[in-house]
Amino acid sequence: MKIALLYNQKPEPSASASRYESDEFAEWDAPETIEAVANALRERGEVVKIDCAPANLPRIVSTLLAEKPDICFNIAEGIGAPSREAQIPALLDMMGLRYTASDPATLCLTLDKARTKEVLSYHRIPTPAFSVVESQSDIEAFLNHDPRFPLIVKPLCEGSSKGIFERSVVSSPEELRRQAREAIERYRQPALIERFLSGREFTVALIGNGDGIEALPIIEVCFDHLPKESRKIYSYEAKWLWDDPSNPVEVFKCPAPIPQALADEIATMCKKAHRALRCRDWSRIDVRLDERGKPHILEVNPLPGILPNPDEHSCFPLAARMAGMDFNALINRVLDEALKRYGVAL
Ligand SMILES: Nc1ncnc2c1ncn2[C@@H]1O[C@H](COP(=O)(O)OP(=O)(O)O)[C@@H](O)[C@H]1O
Ligand SMILES: [Mg+2]
Repeated sequence: MKIALLYNQKPEPSASASRYESDEFAEWDAPETIEAVANALRERGEVVKIDCAPANLPRIVSTLLAEKPDICFNIAEGIGAPSREAQIPALLDMMGLRYTASDPATLCLTLDKARTKEVLSYHRIPTPAFSVVESQSDIEAFLNHDPRFPLIVKPLCEGSSKGIFERSVVSSPEELRRQAREAIERYRQPALIERFLSGREFTVALIGNGDGIEALPIIEVCFDHLPKESRKIYSYEAKWLWDDPSNPVEVFKCPAPIPQALADEIATMCKKAHRALRCRDWSRIDVRLDERGKPHILEVNPLPGILPNPDEHSCFPLAARMAGMDFNALINRVLDEALKRYGVAL
């Protein structure tokens, strides 16, 4: 079997900049991750690596045309517009090639957190109440309705905690104005204002399609070990700055120490969301409890992060390990789910 691995590799940081000083390329993959995925896929066939940086576009197309892969393993996050995660899948659809993970429609939809919540609401899947503001007058109109604080403000179409900082949890109109303006001006997109849920946080790794969707052991995201003054959210600071392999912080507990009934409720809710959003092969869904202990979906990630080094605390590989799958087994299980979906045995 010939497998094309499609990815975006993080640019080398400049010598003076620390690894995560800027969140500009937070979603792209490090060379070690790309090599680890390629290595796993080599257990199953010949692997052709394709760097999907925009400057390589002619080479992406010519390589795919020349190599004619049986299937593509897609982890490319794309660049720029809210269509970014869909760019490579749309190209692969145009070329009639098979690929792992979701199609362009799902990737565009889930990158827009508000659109995702609209679909979840239609399916009666709990998600925190929200508004979207795009301008100063939208912000003032929102404040005129006398909102209940605290709220959280996020850029509408980001991931990997880009644009979500400790200061994103706001407790006054002034703080809300500041954060909404930051999303609109710095991130050049609407701001999503959401009810802040004060309860525990979980993330659920899902694999499969249709009736065969499996929820891996639930991970609890713990905030006890973060600095005392922290807002108990998985912010950019918490994800990339305070948890460093050289100074590890215990952030994840897997399986989450929760009653079986709650674990079942969360797993059922997440499988329903994976189906409702037509995610394919795999996804990771973030969940948080409200003050009464009821779970809500925060967001759905159909291209989940997968850092291969266990010390880097990456959720999907951790949940897979708890389910008895090492990194290679996880990658090849996703490949198999895609092959099964296409109805081919290679
Ligand atoms: N409504 C909310 N209530 C409480 N915390 C939230 C809420 N929305 C987001 N957060 C916190 O912010 C983190 C990042 O938000 P999320 O929507 O998952 O963005 P990203 O796409 O960057 O992962 C979450 O893991 C959670 O800790
Ligand atoms: Mg998240």
